Amino acid sequence: MRKIVFLAGLSVASFLFSVALKKDVSAHRNSAMGLECASCHIEGPQAKLVIRGVPAQFQPGKTYEVTVEVISKLRSKSDSRGGFAVQASAGELKVKDTKRTQLINGYITHTIEGNSVRKWSFLWTAPKDVEEVTIMAMGVASDGDYSPYGDAVAVEAVTTVRAKPKKK
Ligand code: HEC
Repeated sequence: MRKIVFLAGLSVASFLFSVALKKDVSAHRNSAMGLECASCHIEGPQAKLVIRGVPAQFQPGKTYEVTVEVISKLRSKSDSRGGFAVQASAGELKVKDTKRTQLINGYITHTIEGNSVRKWSFLWTAPKDVEEVTIMAMGVASDGDYSPYGDAVAVEAVTTVRAKPKKK
């Protein structure tokens, strides 16, 4: 079962990668330009990405607070400590922390203030007409040199299924 969930996550991930925007290679401390961090951020140490707040089974229409954290031993030598992007295959992502996060083209990402932390929170409202949802996140723990080199990149996906209606 875990394997199936993992494979489902992977297929959603590759779908998201294919739609990720790749236009802007310029500075992006104020947001990430898509979900494919690892296509530019390379040669870094290991990192782990943790997604909290997504239940195993969701209640249709309910809003959940979700937290994404990049965990890495990598120290930053500046204010630039990290960044992230999240997409959901269904339901609605909403901003809760307007200082550190923003919504761009349907995905949640860091703002310039959010570039100085490695943990971000936002809201996800579960869909009413879908059985299974994958929430996909990518994050970078930066070394603070304002380059895409030497940063730690991590990816994670969680799948949640619609809760069964209670028996009468
Ligand atoms: C198209 C290439 C590209 C993609 C895709 C990309 N980045 Fe970057 N990133 C860069 C470049 C170039 C820089 C250096 C310029 C700058 O600091 O903005 C950078 C810098 C950063 C920094 C500051 C690094 C430091 O050491 O100070 C963070 C944080 C960051 N990116 C996060 C992300 C995240 C998170 C994603 C994916 C969700 C992502 N990036 C996707 C090209 C990319």
